[in-house]
Amino acid sequence: MDGVTCHVYRDVLTRGGPEVCGISTCVSEFVRVTDHQVPDHVLLRMVPELAQGGATPSGVPVYVQILGGAEAPMAATARAAVRLGARGIDLNFGCPARTVNRHDGGAALLRTPERIRRITAAVRDAVPDDVPVSVKVRLGWDRTNTIGAIASAAEEGGATFLVVHCRTRCQGYAPPVDWHALAPVVTDLRIPVVANGDLFTPQDVAACEAACGATAFMFGRGVMGRPSLFRQVRGIAPRAPDPLPDLARLVCAYARSLAHHGAPPRARLCRIKQWWRMAAATRADAVPVFDRVKRMGDLGDALAFLETISDGRPERPVRTDPPPGPTPRPPRRATASRSGPPAA
Ligand SMILES: Cc1cc2nc3c(=O)[nH]c(=O)nc-3n(C[C@H](O)[C@H](O)[C@H](O)COP(=O)(O)O)c2cc1C
Repeated sequence: MDGVTCHVYRDVLTRGGPEVCGISTCVSEFVRVTDHQVPDHVLLRMVPELAQGGATPSGVPVYVQILGGAEAPMAATARAAVRLGARGIDLNFGCPARTVNRHDGGAALLRTPERIRRITAAVRDAVPDDVPVSVKVRLGWDRTNTIGAIASAAEEGGATFLVVHCRTRCQGYAPPVDWHALAPVVTDLRIPVVANGDLFTPQDVAACEAACGATAFMFGRGVMGRPSLFRQVRGIAPRAPDPLPDLARLVCAYARSLAHHGAPPRARLCRIKQWWRMAAATRADAVPVFDRVKRMGDLGDALAFLETISDGRPERPVRTDPPPGPTPRPPRRATASRSGPPAA
């Protein structure tokens, strides 16, 4: 996710390696390709894992995602990314951002499946056969019944697998997500189809599988409220919301790692706020944390606050309004955050 899932985030989420974290593949934030090949230094800045064999420090492969509408520079950029170490290339035909779409990128291509086919074929030809080229799309621009033509175009272009965010471009992120619309694609395509969109809990994943038959899934926003979602879906972690203290500890570890990589305090504070904003969108008990963090102007205050939550003392710091009069006695300590509200 652009502006969110940087290499530091990928590192923190994949610690322990695929068997422990449950993540088989990471995809980078999108790299914008205009009319020229993206220079090596830009690829290396955006995907530093390229300099470490194209995997996170714990060995989870990272695909480089490229976004654009011009075949030749897309192909040249893909070739450069693979030369630098990319384990796979992902083509973004799903980004709904107006600026991106106005400049012939992302979901704008959904209106012309033939161009998706040509770009996919050009990129496929540009990289060795054993390097996967995946394609990420939405159900269509403004209608869901175009997904068949879009998916076929990706397959004919030589995509290794297809990822579908089950919404149209015009929907943005508005409900409802339409997993059912993916069913004919899962049936008709020979390549694997990966479902995406509003998969926030293992129950969502089961419902999605029942709706469309997909057996592979891509997670975005939900992970920020439930980082063990991958492990839960694979059955290697209890199917319950991650305890809030665990989440706070993870965000602190992320902030420390950002510091280690030279991120200035302001940037670290922004990322902490962003993480809690995303978490608050899918779990009710993160809302008071976000309400408090979003008002903080000092990184040290935010970290100190999160540390109190990490210690399992959320009741004191998450109060959003100053208490009237004398300090009230703290309520009894919460005992089991595992039995707290569901994450979605
Ligand atoms: C802030 C933000 C940035 C995103 N950036 C990207 C991106 O760079 N590449 C991409 O393929 N999808 C991007 N997405 C879309 C997500 O990958 C995903 O398809 C979408 O959020 C639906 O999945 P989810 O409900 O699991 O989050 C972004 C989404 C958000 C909210």
